[in-house]
Amino acid sequence: MNKKLKLSALAVAAAAVSFAFTANAGLFGGSKETVRISHTQIESHPQHLGLVEFKKAIEAKLGDKFDVQIFPNSTLGANEKVLELIKQGSVQFLSVSTANIESFDKRYKLFSIPYLFTSEKAFESFISDPAILKELGQDAKTDGFEPMTAFTAGTRNFYCKTAIKSVADLNGKKFRVQAGPTNVDMMNAFGAAAAPMSFGEVYSALQQGVIDGAENNELALTDQKHGEVAKFFSYDMHQMCPDLLVGSEVFLSKLSPEDRKVFDEAAATAQKAEFAAWHKRVEEAKKTATDKMGVTFIDVNVQEFQDKVLPLHEKILNETPVLKPLYEKAAAANKAAK
Ligand code: GCU
Repeated sequence: MNKKLKLSALAVAAAAVSFAFTANAGLFGGSKETVRISHTQIESHPQHLGLVEFKKAIEAKLGDKFDVQIFPNSTLGANEKVLELIKQGSVQFLSVSTANIESFDKRYKLFSIPYLFTSEKAFESFISDPAILKELGQDAKTDGFEPMTAFTAGTRNFYCKTAIKSVADLNGKKFRVQAGPTNVDMMNAFGAAAAPMSFGEVYSALQQGVIDGAENNELALTDQKHGEVAKFFSYDMHQMCPDLLVGSEVFLSKLSPEDRKVFDEAAATAQKAEFAAWHKRVEEAKKTATDKMGVTFIDVNVQEFQDKVLPLHEKILNETPVLKPLYEKAAAANKAAK
């Protein structure tokens, strides 16, 4: 055998051994199942930090069975696409805004209702109540995904190329919103136009002047660099939408009750870590946006903004009566947080 042939024969043999090993490992239950988690944020984002704790908690107890891999920055695709993979079971978890899943299940529309919560304290206590999560996820089997825990994403506010100091400043302008008809109704009620698009498209849309502004929390300015192209951020606080860690039903339904418990506990650990990181990171983002990006933060008269969209509450509840029990619980959370 010449040298070249000898080498390729060796390679074939090595491949065969490796194949046999993998197959054996599979047969005797030694191979690990890959658990893929997708999200849209960068690696210093509180959600990523929470998901690292999720991974650690699972691998600490079930490391012999599962290899948990986190894919940040939408590397597996935009949320809309990954949701399909979640339903098929080829991606097991996704951290996703409720706005992205309200088209699958109307209950998630709850969080698009502008000014649903009167304080972040009320919002945080509401989304960390396991009973609320259960209620939201009651149709998980048909949805194809189940909410495991909720992450805070703070308050959503307008940011724009020009200063928005009052509702009148929104007039005739075009703002990117998250998907969903409620967001379109909300922008119309404010006298502006809505341009729904995915998160990853916002920077270039702002840069190219396709939109005048967008709406989000402070981290969008720094993490997504939107503060480079929109210099005015106004605290009107029109929405508080959580990101939910949703699990694929195909995957979750295969877990033994003992393993499922580990995943549930890991999700609760992830939430604690995310909440703890959130407020710290928001303060840091504000400072970076102000000092390094030249963004101006504006305090507006929130009541003026609120008055414009409060009539939407009744309209939404009449159109989607399934929201009523959850809406009442949100009102109770507002009262309790006072
Ligand atoms: C926030 C939220 C994301 C969401 C994004 C958006 O960053 O955490 O889940 O995708 O807003 O506006 O699309």
